[in-house]
Amino acid sequence: MLTPDYLFTRRRAPTRPMILIPQSLTELSGPVYGHESVRSLDNDLTRQHEGEPIGERIIVNGSVMDESGRGIPNTLVEVWQANAAGRYIHVLDQHPAPLDPNFSGAGRTITGANGSYTFTTIRPGAYPVIGLNNVWRPAHIHVSLFGPSFLSRLVTQIYFEGDPLLRYDSIYNTAPDVSKHAMIAKFDMANTQAEWAIAYRFDIVLRGRASVYFEEPHAH
Ligand SMILES: [Fe+2]
Repeated sequence: MLTPDYLFTRRRAPTRPMILIPQSLTELSGPVYGHESVRSLDNDLTRQHEGEPIGERIIVNGSVMDESGRGIPNTLVEVWQANAAGRYIHVLDQHPAPLDPNFSGAGRTITGANGSYTFTTIRPGAYPVIGLNNVWRPAHIHVSLFGPSFLSRLVTQIYFEGDPLLRYDSIYNTAPDVSKHAMIAKFDMANTQAEWAIAYRFDIVLRGRASVYFEEPHAH
């Protein structure tokens, strides 16, 4: 979507209307990548290495729902994020913040019968957008959903309640107000675990007014 304040969209956004290509049964009924190979610990990003990652341990709980609040089961939920210092393990991320040998920053899970999911991770750090003058991304976790067919992939970002960088973030500000609200994980005292981790809640509504904002490719 062309959003003049979000500079990258000037180069990347399509200038012509989208052409819808009819989808055949082969595409809609093809195998969905990855469902079978998800292991039970894949949703705990703090236990993928010998030691524990540095950072503030958090639990993110939520549900994937349709517009009437019904949970959507068997949805592949994948997350990826920077470490506590705001650094990704990626060749394109070379900004001067340390990597964490105990943190890869990727996880996945499948929603349960009632549409619920949970991740344990560390709170990601803010990071600078290299090449822009003092532009920082707020703390965020990227999230992708795979629905019942390979073509039904949706991608968005989880932000955190109270982050002062949100008001400066051009990606966040691309979303309409109602969707902005839906992209913010709410602090969730009830699910905080004593002497272990604080918790956030992030529900994902797929259609309708309360729907979360789904981004186009290439967002950082
Ligand atoms: Fe990011």
